[in-house]
Amino acid sequence: MGFPQERPRRLRQSPALRRLVRQTQLSPSDLVLPLFVREGAGEPVPIPTMPGVVQHSRASLRVAAREAVAAGVGALMLFGVPATRDATGSGLDDPDGILNVGLADLREQVGDDAVIMADLCLDEFTDHGHCGVLDDVGRVDNDATLERYAAGALVQATSGAHVLGLSGMMDGQVGHVRRALDGAGRQDTLILAYAAKYASAFYGPFRDAVESTLVGDRSTYQQDPGNAREALREVRLDLAEGADLVMVKPALPYLDVLRQVADSVDVPVAAYQVSGEYAMIEAAAAAGMIERERAVLESLTSIRRAGAQVVLTYWALEAARWLG
Ligand code: PBG
Repeated sequence: MGFPQERPRRLRQSPALRRLVRQTQLSPSDLVLPLFVREGAGEPVPIPTMPGVVQHSRASLRVAAREAVAAGVGALMLFGVPATRDATGSGLDDPDGILNVGLADLREQVGDDAVIMADLCLDEFTDHGHCGVLDDVGRVDNDATLERYAAGALVQATSGAHVLGLSGMMDGQVGHVRRALDGAGRQDTLILAYAAKYASAFYGPFRDAVESTLVGDRSTYQQDPGNAREALREVRLDLAEGADLVMVKPALPYLDVLRQVADSVDVPVAAYQVSGEYAMIEAAAAAGMIERERAVLESLTSIRRAGAQVVLTYWALEAARWLG
């Protein structure tokens, strides 16, 4: 008789057995909650393309941070939405700029109970919406941008950020910022390098969230979606320049890249489940096409299974509560 010699199903008989042998676990402390704070907002402003996500007022930002810490969320990543923008993105390194005052609010609110991260990039602050300053013919000027990032880094660190998330994809940004921090006695400020960041359509809703003014795209600095090997090069350079953690972004469409990066480094690896990934599941769930909670947890588990230790997700608070 041809009875099976091996019976993998024996391990799947009960919830208790499945839980016992599950390789990939999710826990609240792995999750990072991205938050937006909007200059001048008296109350939270909903973001239509990201149902359930808001641009916070300074007061509601504190409430959100308190809730996230209470739920055990590992970290908060703050983005600023300024009222005015200019060519050099001066809001980035203005100590009274919305991102910097928001960081100070967060630090005062949560202290060291959760890790506070700052987006270190110019796109929210420039009137043209690019992640760098432009040269006289309108191209992104890599090296002039590095100076702007260094200035921003010092103010963000002073404002209370534990970790700076360098998301601009300029060559040499990690090394430049590391030297600036060290030169100012900020050896303890960490750098999370958005090492492999792709030029992705999945950032669409985020650009609404920060009211981006970008015309065109970021293909001269963010990576081409067809390239995996290039991600390893970016990661290698960022680590050589002093990155403490490296990130792959977006997450779900780039799980293969995430796995390759995770296998090639000896630092913690993060992945960013971006706004478009969030919007897709929310829209499908709202249309009754998919079970929301199961889809969210499955997507987060997949990102962890592919090699991310840390996951940035707009569901961080909700997922942390589900996970208990
Ligand atoms: C740049 C930045 C972006 C995101 C995070 N940091 C936008 C971009 O590169 O265009 C996207 C995050 C998301 O889509 O959720 N400051």
